[in-house]
Amino acid sequence: MAQMRSKSIAVFNSNDIYPIGADSTLPFEQHRDIFYLSGADQEETILLLFPEANDEKHREILFVRETNEHIAVWEGEKLTKERATEVSGIETIYWLTDFDRVFFDLMTEADIIYFNTNEHYRQAVETQTREDRFIQKCKMQFPAHQYAKSNPILQEIRGVKEREEIDLMQIACNITEKGFRRLLGFVKPGVFEYEIEAELLHEFIRNKSKGFAYTPIIASGNNANVLHYIENNQECKAGDLILMDVAAEYANYSSDLTRTIPVSGKFNDRQKEVYEAVLRVKNEATKMLVPGTIWAEYHKECGKIMTSELLGLGLLDMADVQNENADWPAYKKYFMHGTSHHIGLNTHDYGALKTPMKANMVFTVEPGIYIPEEKFGIRLEDDVVIQEKGAPFNLMANIPIEVDEIETLMNS
Ligand code: GLY
Ligand code: MN
Ligand code: MN
Repeated sequence: MAQMRSKSIAVFNSNDIYPIGADSTLPFEQHRDIFYLSGADQEETILLLFPEANDEKHREILFVRETNEHIAVWEGEKLTKERATEVSGIETIYWLTDFDRVFFDLMTEADIIYFNTNEHYRQAVETQTREDRFIQKCKMQFPAHQYAKSNPILQEIRGVKEREEIDLMQIACNITEKGFRRLLGFVKPGVFEYEIEAELLHEFIRNKSKGFAYTPIIASGNNANVLHYIENNQECKAGDLILMDVAAEYANYSSDLTRTIPVSGKFNDRQKEVYEAVLRVKNEATKMLVPGTIWAEYHKECGKIMTSELLGLGLLDMADVQNENADWPAYKKYFMHGTSHHIGLNTHDYGALKTPMKANMVFTVEPGIYIPEEKFGIRLEDDVVIQEKGAPFNLMANIPIEVDEIETLMNS
């Protein structure tokens, strides 16, 4: 609210519940902005902020779906007005049916309306969201108001995590750790990728996670070279590696882990050599995640480190590097994705990317080397918190990553 312009209102909508067909729906996932700002994890909720409202009680309003005995019996308990205040800290709670009337009245006091458009750098949304419908309707009804966008404010504040958020992310990472350790005693030749998925889901849910923070990638052998492989339906064969990009959510916060382990419990020499190279790139990259670093420059540096490792592995030669195209450097043949993204309420979270990094931003570090010619790929990924001084704090420091440790745990 401190960053809003004079005489302005901001409105934040919940996500729709997406229909499958007949009377089926996907499970509800709250829009992370209204969740971040209010803690309200319920469909059809609307948050309205109006710092200069004439009536002080209209400076913050939460609109929730009216609940009653019938709804309580069929759908379970929904937020009452009292509970909505407890959850959100907002005193003024109205039923959703009052929204149009209250909103119209408040808009007569305001000049500007903030819309919550999606400006995420990777967004690609084809469906109309609840926010989109609200924007359309609002523009029709209030054509003489000015429009502003709340996304830049949310990107900035959500990008720097509060202590409470980091604590929740640590819990998500600890649950992920339990899942991964369980696997080390489970994986052997002949297991199917989906059996690994089932082990993880079991461990996540029994630890009070709702499940995977994102669609899990469990890719044995050459499947690891398909970056978004999510079929998870192949048998894990002796001698192959399995790349697992799998992690738990907790309280709507994501963790994001990748580990690559040998199906038989032991890396062969070539696998180990490439693994150690990826691990060195990860360790070097992590050291650069300090206040002041610029994301794009960081990625260039990571590319240089990766280039030297690929030369060492014999995957590139000097001519490849000398003749490389600056827009698509030679290393991208084997490492074609980014090294880091913000993580938080979204797995690919909000956060400033064009200004210097700040303390308490949380990033993944996830280099990989993918070699279809050799039918394996390796990625390693941890989540780290930028500190005021020194190296970042690794929320996944306890999750085994060294070759010896993984081999020992798999064979004990
Ligand atoms: N699991 C998605 C990612 O690593 O970015
Ligand atoms: Mn990942
Ligand atoms: Mn990631």
